[in-house]
Amino acid sequence: MNPQTLSLRALLFLGLWQTGRRCLASAPELKIQPQKIAVVGAGIGGSAAAFYLRQEFGPGVKIDVFEPDTVGGRLATVKFGDQDYETGGAVIHPLNLHMKHFIEKLGIPPRKDVRSKAAIFDGKELTFEESDWYIVNVLHMLWRYGFNFLRMHMWVETVLDKFMRIYQYQQYGYSFSSVDKLLHAMGGDGFLTLLNQTLEETMMAEGFPQVFINEVVSPITRVNYGQSVRLNGIVGAVSLAGVDSGLWAVDGGNKRVCSGLLYISKTELITAKVTSISIKVRPSKSGTTTTFYEVNYVGESGSAHSLYDIVVIATPLHQGKSDIIFSGFSPPLPSHYPGRYHQTVSTLIHGRLNMSFLGSTKKASDFTVSDILTMDSKDSIINSLSSIDPVQIPEGYIRPPASVAKVWKVFSPQPLTQEQLQDMFITWDSSSETRWLAYPIYRPPQRKTPPFILHNRLYYLNAVEWAASAMEMSAISARNVALLAHHRWHQQEGKVDQEDLHTRLRGEL
Ligand SMILES: Cc1cc2nc3c(=O)[nH]c(=O)nc-3n(C[C@H](O)[C@H](O)[C@H](O)COP(=O)(O)OP(=O)(O)OC[C@H]3O[C@@H](n4cnc5c(N)ncnc54)[C@H](O)[C@@H]3O)c2cc1C
Ligand SMILES: *[C@@H]1O[C@H](CO)[C@@H](O)[C@H](O)[C@H]1NC(C)=O
Ligand SMILES: *[C@@H]1O[C@H](CO)[C@@H](O)[C@H](O)[C@H]1NC(C)=O
Repeated sequence: MNPQTLSLRALLFLGLWQTGRRCLASAPELKIQPQKIAVVGAGIGGSAAAFYLRQEFGPGVKIDVFEPDTVGGRLATVKFGDQDYETGGAVIHPLNLHMKHFIEKLGIPPRKDVRSKAAIFDGKELTFEESDWYIVNVLHMLWRYGFNFLRMHMWVETVLDKFMRIYQYQQYGYSFSSVDKLLHAMGGDGFLTLLNQTLEETMMAEGFPQVFINEVVSPITRVNYGQSVRLNGIVGAVSLAGVDSGLWAVDGGNKRVCSGLLYISKTELITAKVTSISIKVRPSKSGTTTTFYEVNYVGESGSAHSLYDIVVIATPLHQGKSDIIFSGFSPPLPSHYPGRYHQTVSTLIHGRLNMSFLGSTKKASDFTVSDILTMDSKDSIINSLSSIDPVQIPEGYIRPPASVAKVWKVFSPQPLTQEQLQDMFITWDSSSETRWLAYPIYRPPQRKTPPFILHNRLYYLNAVEWAASAMEMSAISARNVALLAHHRWHQQEGKVDQEDLHTRLRGEL
């Protein structure tokens, strides 16, 4: 880690970047502005896109956001008693600067922190249980895995340092036309190699022993992405960063950020599902013709359509995730790109844990572990089991031990049967199951990632998920797409796909 990156990170972390020089994008424009923009989907990606589009195009443009379901998408909560709990995207990294900026802008505090404690389950018994004493954990890891734990942390740091460059690029208004170009700008050819090989290959090449990969790395990729260490190195690094300290969540529920962003961006939320998008050519005042996108949608009051200058698709274009027909495009655009989404079933259950399920003879009243990760084995029917806290932490809250009935969250690839639940819990009184098509099934070497630009002024935000799926990734992609849309509308090619930004911007801080 050189001092240069350190100081950049320090600045970014202090939030100075937000008050720094604004990008040229906000300079007053003489050219004609778009009249109407559509955003399809109101998850964190779509709401962040609305926010950044407003920032780039100013107050004059009408921004419509289409969403047939609840605002928030994969950020969602369910109620147990009088408390809400996260069922989808739950934790945010301390260096996820866009998410941080959003809550500051919205005046929402982070959720009060409750200390977490992890354990690892091999399908038969607990192979590791974090102690309350930091030094005990360090000694345990040293004894079992030598310096590999520390080395892993350092490897993630070097990836993260490069990743952080995106904030500076975006602050200066730079954007990228593809996922590969965006990754290349962050981490050069090294990042493209990470994308194209498995985390396992990457870590083996770095000299990590197989036993460490199986017993520590794999449980982490399983809890975060429901997949083995054979996912790509970028999402692998994101996954490993997901066990850093300082993880946070949004007070009252992560999805509040979505509704908040839609509100402050003065968008119109249209409760409808987009069914198709087609190209329409209309004569313009100047005697020439203008191309529009006709968005067709179905809502409670039936079907309707509307014309837009710019459209941002903020939902995955994949089987089971959406079904949008694109008509009149040449070359044709598919409704679904190749590749599938991974099913993660999120079961929340209010009950008492069966300690023998974990092969533990420990008294439940002494068991205060919050996150039980699992090794990849044929005995593991679950990917993880966590004792979770409500989205709003009550005054004086202490996470209860396993002897008390409380809310647990189980991630599994298949829905849990009654027998399986009976094995895991001594008693329970209520449960809730959400079957997510959660994130891509990552299988490097990677096929070509879908494009950000589907057509002249039609953009696709969720292409970024093929590098890694996370709230912050969607937010980064949202800002990228808003910048792209702006620069392409105003023909500012100098702000798209610039090479060597890292060296060129070094003098600017
Ligand atoms: C179980 C689980 C755990 C996770 N854990 C974390 C975590 O801890 N940290 C983290 O950062 N990330 C996590 N993630 C990933 C994170 O939740 C996602 O990457 C992120 O929420 C994606 O946001 P998005 O807005 O891009 O997509 P989505 O949230 O999927 O939003 C897309 C929206 O588009 C709507 N839509 C679909 N079709 C149409 C249509 N035809 N017309 C109009 N609207 C349409 C959908 O209803 C949806 O609301 C997790 C995900 C899951 C499922
Ligand atoms: C607890 O788990 C053990 C081991 O899986 C199982 O044999 C037992 O039936 C379970 N007990 C209860 C009360 O569910
Ligand atoms: C990805 O890996 C495959 C096989 O290992 C290789 O053929 C391909 O050229 C690589 N692609 C990139 C972009 O590096």
